[in-house]
Amino acid sequence: MEKKEAEEQEPGQVVNPWTVSAKGGGKIDYDKLIDQFGCQRLDQSLIDRVERLTSRPPHVFLRRGVFFAHRDFNEILDAYERGDKFYLYTGRGPSSEALHLGHLIPFMFTKYLQDTFKVPLVIQLTDDEKCMWRNLSVEESQRLARENAKDIIACGFDITKTFIFSDFDYVGGAFYKNMVRVAKCVTYNKVVGIFGFSGEDHIGKVSFPPVQAVPSFPSSFPHLFNGKDHLRCLIPCAIDQDPYFRMTRDVAPRIGYHKPALIESSFFPALQGETGKMSASDPNSAIYVTDSGKDIKNKINRYAFSGGQDSIEKHRQLGANLEVDIPIKYLSFFLDDDLELENIKKEYGAGRMLTGEVKKRLIEVLTELVERHRQARAAVTDEMVDAFMAVRPLPSMFS
Ligand code: TRP
Repeated sequence: MEKKEAEEQEPGQVVNPWTVSAKGGGKIDYDKLIDQFGCQRLDQSLIDRVERLTSRPPHVFLRRGVFFAHRDFNEILDAYERGDKFYLYTGRGPSSEALHLGHLIPFMFTKYLQDTFKVPLVIQLTDDEKCMWRNLSVEESQRLARENAKDIIACGFDITKTFIFSDFDYVGGAFYKNMVRVAKCVTYNKVVGIFGFSGEDHIGKVSFPPVQAVPSFPSSFPHLFNGKDHLRCLIPCAIDQDPYFRMTRDVAPRIGYHKPALIESSFFPALQGETGKMSASDPNSAIYVTDSGKDIKNKINRYAFSGGQDSIEKHRQLGANLEVDIPIKYLSFFLDDDLELENIKKEYGAGRMLTGEVKKRLIEVLTELVERHRQARAAVTDEMVDAFMAVRPLPSMFS
């Protein structure tokens, strides 16, 4: 009876910075999200254009549709083609000590964009945000921000082109002036409409969105972009962050700034299946960058949802359902080799390859990735964190 009632009250799909849940526990409907948010699909012609302009194969996350939506990305490419520069802005809310694979995706992709387009990058650590939303003290949030900065640096960003900042340290001056300019343009009703705050939410939440908005404007970084007020900004992010930037884009022209462009990803699915994004509260739902080879093997073998059949005979006969198979999904994020992936899909889909064999390949791929990350992170010293976070000019940022 109770269950039935819950089903009847089935809410639709909810995607915002705090909740990602699909309708009826199913898959996120990304086409619907594009319509609902009013962003554009990142189609093949745009991907081909990236390849033409950069003379490099497009990143696997572009080829496989991980980054699938955008706003004005074509305008960034127009600017680049004319020889105009732009800068990148991304961020992380430091809510946990260890990152999982899903957290790495925007940073891996941002690194590709930085290397390929040779542009500066600002990375916001919203320690203030997580302090207000999670039950964390100011000090603990700031500590986590520095810890997470090490993982971010381990992704390989170029220190001569990258500025990482914590809100607690950096908010003030020109950045704060922009926050006030934004805040004056957004009514309480508007912020409630976009983010769904209620009368019970504390006022810190209501006042936060301008903090995430203003890194989109070059004048928030006078030590980097003094006199370059018309520099365009491109934001790589997961699509749950779109509400912040809808607000930002709405306000920008009213205060004399360009709207930031966006390139947006889908969510990395949980091991148990593709029904949303991974949950930080269930350690068995995700692979963490701190997992050992043994943990990875164990988690994939025990928890990764399989589209294979229950018995070998049935599997040989019917083949695997690739649509729901998590090992295939994970390989499509992290196995670079297009031919190998195609071959695995063909053989597994036809039942000639078994789930165990696909999982074995995935375990190899992820163990190597996590081990590479572990080594890179171990090499990041406190001095390097200070260096990335120092308020300083970046002399070679456009070359
Ligand atoms: N709110 C984001 C989070 O919780 C962090 C963030 C700040 C961000 N600025 C951003 C993410 C810009 C993407 C792009 O993780």
